[in-house]
Amino acid sequence: MIEATHGDYTIREIGLTPDELAPLVELHHEVLPSRAYATDEKKQGLLGELQAALAGRDPLVLTAFAPDAKMVAYKLGYRTGNRRECFYSWLGGVHPFHRRKGLYRALTRLQHEWAAGQGCLYVETHTWGDNPGMMILNLQEGFIASGSLAAVDRPGTRIIMRKMLQNP
Ligand SMILES: CC(C)(COP(=O)(O)OP(=O)(O)OC[C@H]1O[C@@H](n2cnc3c(N)ncnc32)[C@H](O)[C@@H]1OP(=O)(O)O)[C@@H](O)C(=O)NCCC(=O)NCCS
Repeated sequence: MIEATHGDYTIREIGLTPDELAPLVELHHEVLPSRAYATDEKKQGLLGELQAALAGRDPLVLTAFAPDAKMVAYKLGYRTGNRRECFYSWLGGVHPFHRRKGLYRALTRLQHEWAAGQGCLYVETHTWGDNPGMMILNLQEGFIASGSLAAVDRPGTRIIMRKMLQNP
C-alpha cells in the first residue's frame, strides 16, 4: 500500500470498501462543479459505479489528506488493454481550497511510478478540451495528445492523452 507525504499532506492508497470510498465520493462532488447539486441517491450510485469499474482490474486509488484528516485530493484508475498494457487514469481532483500546492502533480507521479512498476507500457487519460489546468499539468508530466473522442452527453471533445512508461 502506498503511503507518502507532500508538505503537510499525507498521501495514502485506499481500498474499495464503502467506508473508504464514501469520503472520495463526497469530495468528487465538491471538486466538479457539474456534480455540486447531485442528490444523495446519485452520490450513492457513484460509489457502486466505482466499485464495479475498479474491482478485479488492478486498481490504484490514491488519496491525500490535510493535517485535519479531511480527504482533499484523489486520483484513481485501473489496468486495461488487450495485454493489460495500459493504466487508464480515470478520475481525479483536488478540493478548491487546496489547489496549486503541487498535490495533483504528486499524485500523478506516484501513480505513474506504480503503474511502471506493475509493468504497464503506457498510461492513458481522457481530458476535456475545456479543462486547461488538467491539460497543462498532463503535458508537463509527459503526456502527448494522441486522439480525441466526441462526447455523447455534452458538447465538446475529450482529448486522449498518452504517456509511455517503458520503452516498447
Ligand atoms: C486540475 C486540478 C486537478 C489540478 O490540481 P492541483 O493540485 O491544483 O494541481 P498542481 O498544484 O499539482 O498543479 C501543477 C501545475 O499544473 C498547472 N496547473 C494546475 N492547475 C492549473 C490551472 N487551473 N490553470 C493553469 N495551469 C494549471 C500549473 O502549471 C501548476 O504548476 P504551478 O502551480 O507551479 O503553476 C484541479 O484544479 C482540479 O481538481 N480541477 C477540477 C477537477 C478536474 O478537472 N478533474 C479532472 C477531470 S476528472
